[in-house]
Amino acid sequence: MPARIHSIQGDITSLELDAIVNAANSTLLGGGGVDGAIHRAAGPELLEECRRLGGCPSGEARISGAYRLKARRIIHTVGPVWRGGAYRERELLASCYEHSLQLATRNGLRSIAFPSISTGVYGFPLELAAPIAVKSVLQFTDGRDDIGEVVFCCFSAHDLALYQQVLRAART
Ligand code: APR
Repeated sequence: MPARIHSIQGDITSLELDAIVNAANSTLLGGGGVDGAIHRAAGPELLEECRRLGGCPSGEARISGAYRLKARRIIHTVGPVWRGGAYRERELLASCYEHSLQLATRNGLRSIAFPSISTGVYGFPLELAAPIAVKSVLQFTDGRDDIGEVVFCCFSAHDLALYQQVLRAART
């Protein structure tokens, strides 16, 4: 059964899925944006566990418990900071999605939601990031039956409209 891949508008901390992905920084010790929202909603035990993870390089992912969240696990990935596009930002962003999905499948997590990684504080242009996100997810899930659902959880209506447009284009 191919994965159901779709986009919604909402707060990723409210989703009751196997995994939600956090757009973290390399310390994994919390921050603003979705990182701050996830740590606030999950509670202090999350930070205690993250301290023991010892950080994460850009483009890679780590997994933790979800504590007070409805999700079962949190996958923390560190997106690239946009510096104009000449520093492998596109490859690193794709790698965030791939590593996060790999961690999910290795941990038997069949449903996963992503925020729009790197498009906030890290300044990655949304119109460049969304096609990379969609292409990475479609390529990873193609031909596999161990991922049942991937949700692009957009925080704004503007972001949702773009992801819907990119998903439609990817399917034609
Ligand atoms: N649910 C879903 N999406 C959210 C939420 C939320 N509760 N809060 C913010 N977002 C969206 C933002 O609107 C943006 O579209 O997540 C996307 C990613 O933005 P950031 O959270 O700023 O993440 P990023 O651009 O990857 O920057 C990461 O910011 O918070 C710090 O510690 C973090 O240093 C790291 C950096």
